[in-house]
Amino acid sequence: MQDMTRDQDHRLALVTGATGAIGKAIALAIAQQPGYRVVLLCRNPRKADQAVREIIDESGNPRVSHEIVDLSSRQSIEAVARRLQGPVHVLVNNAAITPRRRQETSEGIELQFATNVLGYFWLTRALLDQLSAGAPARVVNVASYWAGDMDLDDLEFKRRPYNNNTAYRQSKQANRMLTVALARRLGDLGVTVNACHPGDVSSNLSNNLGFGGHESPRDGARTPAWLATDATGQQETAKYFEHMQMRRCPFGEDSEKVEALYQACLAY
Ligand SMILES: NC(=O)c1ccc[n+]([C@@H]2O[C@H](COP(=O)([O-])OP(=O)(O)OC[C@H]3O[C@@H](n4cnc5c(N)ncnc54)[C@H](OP(=O)(O)O)[C@@H]3O)[C@@H](O)[C@H]2O)c1
Repeated sequence: MQDMTRDQDHRLALVTGATGAIGKAIALAIAQQPGYRVVLLCRNPRKADQAVREIIDESGNPRVSHEIVDLSSRQSIEAVARRLQGPVHVLVNNAAITPRRRQETSEGIELQFATNVLGYFWLTRALLDQLSAGAPARVVNVASYWAGDMDLDDLEFKRRPYNNNTAYRQSKQANRMLTVALARRLGDLGVTVNACHPGDVSSNLSNNLGFGGHESPRDGARTPAWLATDATGQQETAKYFEHMQMRRCPFGEDSEKVEALYQACLAY
């Protein structure tokens, strides 16, 4: 049984998509650092149990558990946020999907936009009280260098033909833009928000896009896990990183478009 008194001495890190290639490696890397509790936010209970067992075995850290949530559903995200009471110090938004055909969620939103963009946005906003209670706290948005093609007038591919590569690139551009929009708003709460490219890793997500991936999950997790635990992730905000180096992000520099996207997401 976990010792809840001593748990309060540990920083709480939440990692989404931690049954996947990069997310599991991020959760492991954080669990291997001293002083962290890690909660995996996953949709599949069987895979989540397995991931928790593997991370505890490999890290030797018993403070790893999971919560079940569908990150394409606002209702499910708000429910998990209500279950996660108390300070949150680190939120790693990482879960994403690249379905080959256009699909919609039960709430009627195109699935890739709902999961990859609104999932990050809703979860961060739903956890504002917990992040502020954990301040100094940080949000790490796992994005990509493979980003672009945004159409602010057709975020859900209702007018354009759906293509999973275009929808994915748009979603990763949006992650980088919303990092800036949220960083502006969360700074006063003592919460930083940064985005990064992880590594190129073979996974369901990358295979669906027709990519193999030449890096191990551990290498792919290095930059997000570093932003989650190193002092840099607390000192910097609204920044974009690749290979643990800050990079200029033209998407984040277009303030008008950043605010327009933020407002569009608020409407969901
Ligand atoms: N792989 C690469 O080369 C690469 C390159 C650049 C950026 N990235 C970014 O890295 C991140 C992780 O990608 P990955 O390659 O590790 O992908 P992955 O192995 O396919 O993992 C995706 C994760 O997201 C979870 N997920 C998807 N939809 C969900 C939902 N509705 N609710 C809850 N969880 C959901 C999956 O859960 P299940 O296990 O239940 O399916 C899985 O845990 C993504 O943000 C991606 O854009 C990856």
